[in-house]
Formats: sequence, structure tokens, C-alpha cells
Amino acid sequence: MALTEANKRQQCTVITIDGPAGAGKSTVAKELAKRLGFAYLDTGAMYRALTLKALRQKINLENEKQLVDLAHQTLINITTDDKKSLKVVLDAEDVTEPIRSLEVTQSTFYVARIAGVREVMVQRQREIGTKNNIVIEGRDTGTVVFPHATRKFYLDADSKERAQRRIKELKEKGKQVDELTIARDLEERDTKDITRAVGPLKKAEDAIFIDSTGLSIGQVVGKMLEYI
Ligand code: C5P
Repeated sequence: MALTEANKRQQCTVITIDGPAGAGKSTVAKELAKRLGFAYLDTGAMYRALTLKALRQKINLENEKQLVDLAHQTLINITTDDKKSLKVVLDAEDVTEPIRSLEVTQSTFYVARIAGVREVMVQRQREIGTKNNIVIEGRDTGTVVFPHATRKFYLDADSKERAQRRIKELKEKGKQVDELTIARDLEERDTKDITRAVGPLKKAEDAIFIDSTGLSIGQVVGKMLEYI
């Protein structure tokens, strides 16, 4: 995907964090953005919001053309308050909660693997990152969205710990969880994200690898701040 001149001359500070599901990217990215006074962008929330709309409209998730058209016709607005609480607005509706459902989580891959959909999303992500100092997290933010980012991180953790973190997070939200399903779901999502043809989950060559196994959020953020 071609970078425009404006993107190449990116004047704002951009920090990218990529990694597999449950590695702690969102929590760490929010905290880092708060400490630096930067904006925070959760790119996964954009793919989730579009997936929610596709599911509601009963679009066949194998129908690439319809999904690309849908991406062009959809407004997704992601905002955060001072505390970096995320609000995701799909067209005019607040979908912060519904985009986290199991159905959306398991279906997002089908929407996110389509080149035309990614083109629309990546362009929007670049527009945000060229106007604000930003911490942006996802799967391809250091490889595709901002290959010239100021600092890139790749955050990973032991798969058992990642599953446990996700289970804890869901339980804290009062959700019923089947631990085996969660663990299997994380594993399947990672495999699909790593092996897809467009914008796969991959460590950028110049990204700093951080293994967050056994580390607290504060410790991971502290490490990142040292590099920044
Ligand atoms: O980050 P989160 O787990 O919410 O992302 C949900 C899904 O969205 C991922 O499993 C992946 O398929 C897709 N995604 C993506 N590219 C990104 C961020 C997320 O393909 N930059």
C-alpha cells in the first residue's frame, strides 16, 4: 500500500505496539499514551466495529466486494477521555461494548483479511496519526500503517499467561467464561492473523521485542519509556 508524501513526512510522534491477542497491548498502550500525553488508537476496535455492522446486516463474510463497499460507507470514530477510556462510535451508535462479544471476536478475522477493507482502515489510521502524537496498537501498525514510526514495539507473552489475562479481564466485566474456549480462541486467532496474506501479524525488523510474561503493566510501560 503506497504511502502518500504527507505520511512519509510524518511530523507527529508515532509509537506503534503490535503483538498477538492478550499480550497486554491495549492496557499498556493506554497507560503509555496517558504518561506521554499522546492520543491512543486501538486499530482492532475499528475492524471489530465494521464486523459488527456486517453481522447485523447479515452480509456473507466471504463476500469481499460487499465488505469493501461497507467499509467505504461506514463511519468509525474512536475517542478517548482523559483517563484514556475508549469509546467506539459506529455511524452514530456507541458500540464500545457490543464489539467485544464472542461472535464479533470470532468473526473479525474474516473482515480483516480482505485487502480492500484494510486499505480503507489503514488510510484512516494514517490520517489520525499524521495529525496527533499517538500510541497506536494492533497487528500491522509498525509494518504497514506506520513503517516510519518514531518507535516500534512488539509485545508478546507466554500463551498460557495471555489466556489467563483474557479470562481475568472477562470475569472482571462480569462475563461468563469457558476457559478452554478462550484459550483455544486466542490460539486460533493468532494463527489466522499470522498466516493471512495481507497485513499479517509480524514483528517489524526495527521493532523492540518485549516479553511481558510475569511483568506488570507498570514494568512494561517503564521499559518502553526507557527506549522512548
Ligand atoms: O486487537 P483485537 O484483539 O481487538 O483485534 C481483533 C482482530 O482484529 C484481530 O484478531 C485481527 O484479526 C484484527 N486486527 C487486524 N489488524 C489490526 C488490528 C486488529 O487485522 N491492526
